[in-house]
Amino acid sequence: MNPFLEKAIPVENYFDNWKCIYPRPYDKYEVNPYTRTRVILMNGTEIESIFFGHQFTRNCTDNNIRRGISILRRLDQQQQKVISVLKPADETILEHTIGYEQLAVDLTAELAQREPDCYVKMALDFALLEDFDHLYRYSDLGYFEYGEKMECLVGHYTEIMPGRPTISHHRFPTDNIKYWVDFETACPITKLNISIITAAEQQTMNYYMNVANIYCSDLGRQLYQEIGSVEEEHVSQYESLLDPRLSWLENLLMHKYNECYLYYSCYCSEVDPYIRKIWEYHYMQEVSSLQYVAKLLEKYEGKCWKEVIPDGEFPELLKLGSNIEYVRHVLKNTVQLTSKREDYVNVDKLCPDDKFFMMQDALNEPVGQVPSHKVIEKTIRKKGKDYRFEVAENPIKALRDRKEDNTCVGR
Ligand SMILES: [Fe+2]
Ligand SMILES: [Fe+2]
Ligand SMILES: [Fe+2]
Repeated sequence: MNPFLEKAIPVENYFDNWKCIYPRPYDKYEVNPYTRTRVILMNGTEIESIFFGHQFTRNCTDNNIRRGISILRRLDQQQQKVISVLKPADETILEHTIGYEQLAVDLTAELAQREPDCYVKMALDFALLEDFDHLYRYSDLGYFEYGEKMECLVGHYTEIMPGRPTISHHRFPTDNIKYWVDFETACPITKLNISIITAAEQQTMNYYMNVANIYCSDLGRQLYQEIGSVEEEHVSQYESLLDPRLSWLENLLMHKYNECYLYYSCYCSEVDPYIRKIWEYHYMQEVSSLQYVAKLLEKYEGKCWKEVIPDGEFPELLKLGSNIEYVRHVLKNTVQLTSKREDYVNVDKLCPDDKFFMMQDALNEPVGQVPSHKVIEKTIRKKGKDYRFEVAENPIKALRDRKEDNTCVGR
């Protein structure tokens, strides 16, 4: 499938009335967990595209280009409106959060396994273990406060147990900046992987930034603050991998190509026929948008789309699913890693005066007040042990004790 070669109608023809942009939400008891995660993924992808369009406008002197992107941005807004209300009103903030972290785990694992560039794969594996731990902390919050077992929500497709403990994620900011990848020589799938995960992590960061103050308990508000700060680290890591040399129009073309690829992937893997139609319709809209940007690029920079995306044919499509064995494998081998400037090192190899420890001391003392630790401690005190959903014992011995939360691994 090559979206540059598909037949497209003018973008202006895609503006719909209010009834059309208010679809029927999914049923939270019936929905396939990966339908929920696709909804979260595409909402985040649209939000990235919209804000990119705004930043472009603020950095562009030519009103002809600014008028052009205003149409595309409005269309992205329309798509975002449709997607975001697929989440039903009765799905709580915390339940939706579990969807966010399940997406982070299974999307990252999927991208890591198909990533040919070992430096990019390392970044994915690294953050994977952190989002995996977030899923456990939020799930325990749900169990502590409502007695809710989140394993049904994740459909038993994703395990819920400690990963690299969240307390260890708080690094000095400069350690999250990586080398950027050369998009002229990178594989098409590498460019897609970095773009997809940056938008997804950014939306997780946005969501936690927005819901921390409307969550109903102090413990939950604190947990959203802490994990939201880690998502900021993840965004910093991933966005630093993007090639910063692209022109604004080239970058816009990449955004649109990425949206085409993702909608087409969602369309091909969706099990809900009603939502599948939405992915298909949005795919067609994106094909029109992509071809519109290709024309802008030709007109204002004298460049053909092939100079940015040499082969428009989609690589292997994205399919979300269970990755239990892969996550266990990464956990077993890399739990003690931390990010050090452009590299990843075992935390035991850091000098005692490393900035990592300075940051850890500034944030995590006293340890008893760290929200991600507190939520497990409180659950153990109330219920006798923590809440987990695991298919076998944790591959890391130090993380097996269900009556004591480990705060040493990874720091
Ligand atoms: Fe879009
Ligand atoms: Fe996370
Ligand atoms: Fe994350």
